[in-house]
Amino acid sequence: MRGIKIIGTGMYVPETIASNDWLSTFLDTNDEWIYSRTGIRERRISTDTPNFVMASEAAKAAVADSGIDPSEIDLVLAATCSPDYFYPALSCLVQHEVGAQNAAAFDINSACTGFINALDTASRFLEDGDYRNILVVASERLAPHCDYTDRSASILFGDGSGAAVVTKSDKPMWSYLSAKGDFFNALYCKVDQSRANCPLLKPDIAPVGIIDNEAKTHTLQMNGKAVYKFAVEAMDSAVRKVLERAGLGLDDIDLYIPHQANARIIESAVKSLGIPADKVYVNLEKRGNTSSACIPTCLAELKQAGRIKDGMTICLVGFGAGLTSGAIVFNQ
Ligand code: COA
Repeated sequence: MRGIKIIGTGMYVPETIASNDWLSTFLDTNDEWIYSRTGIRERRISTDTPNFVMASEAAKAAVADSGIDPSEIDLVLAATCSPDYFYPALSCLVQHEVGAQNAAAFDINSACTGFINALDTASRFLEDGDYRNILVVASERLAPHCDYTDRSASILFGDGSGAAVVTKSDKPMWSYLSAKGDFFNALYCKVDQSRANCPLLKPDIAPVGIIDNEAKTHTLQMNGKAVYKFAVEAMDSAVRKVLERAGLGLDDIDLYIPHQANARIIESAVKSLGIPADKVYVNLEKRGNTSSACIPTCLAELKQAGRIKDGMTICLVGFGAGLTSGAIVFNQ
């Protein structure tokens, strides 16, 4: 039987606050529009701190909170879709910074669903028995990838990192993971190869539906309406499917932690599921959408506030580019 216990959490957010009012100094937008359509008032932007430093700060805080020594970490899993380097993996940089010299390390990229997929992977490694303590970190520095002339997408995203140290538990956990690659072009960011200088290279072949011109190279492109529609359905469906696997009802969950993309998406899913709003944690007013980092950042805030208690049944649910989605239910 799979089971995880979160023994430590940590988070890092950059100092610089980018408010809706600041965005409206150079975009044709305003605080009222952004807040009423998304629930976001401000987000943090990392002006000069690379992703690996942000991730390592969150990871160090989680390890300190867990009380274990870094040498006791057997695996570092990092979720990111905005790494500083193609390689080495972000997890290797975090391993180095944290001093987890006995750990294996690899990355997972499923965009905003990254932490769900990484935590699910961690639980399967823990089941194996060779791995006792796993550091799962999700970290994003999205500002360099956003197009700050695009008012419908750039207003949503922020930078931040969250981490959890997990160990095997004798209480059960369940997961449901999904991907719908048919919708790959609803949300994407192309690798910038514009500076490649191999004389043999010809223009790239992009999948049909991808906008592939110079102006759009390497910035995030999004069909907001398509993602919105997918997100509401995917959250509802992932929660129902994981609960079905668990043999639990919606009322058996003490705390729901959804991906923080848009307050209206969360409200719609909460309404269609019929969950009481006070069981759902939302922090996006001050953070915006930090992609894979949203859920572990929520976990860190909740744990720090004493709201994660032993014996609780917690449901994490997320969705993102891919389009991917997933949910995890575990007994803490
Ligand atoms: N400020 C002011 N007006 C804006 C604006 C902004 N920041 N962004 C878009 N608009 C305008 C549009 O240009 C459009 O104007 P028009 O009617 O004159 O053409 C109008 O507002 C309505 O645009 P629309 O796209 O219908 O808005 P919306 O209500 O769907 O909200 C999103 C746009 C992006 C906020 C919403 O679709 C969304 O949140 N989608 C999900 C995105 C997401 O979560 N992505 C991450 C997934 S992990």
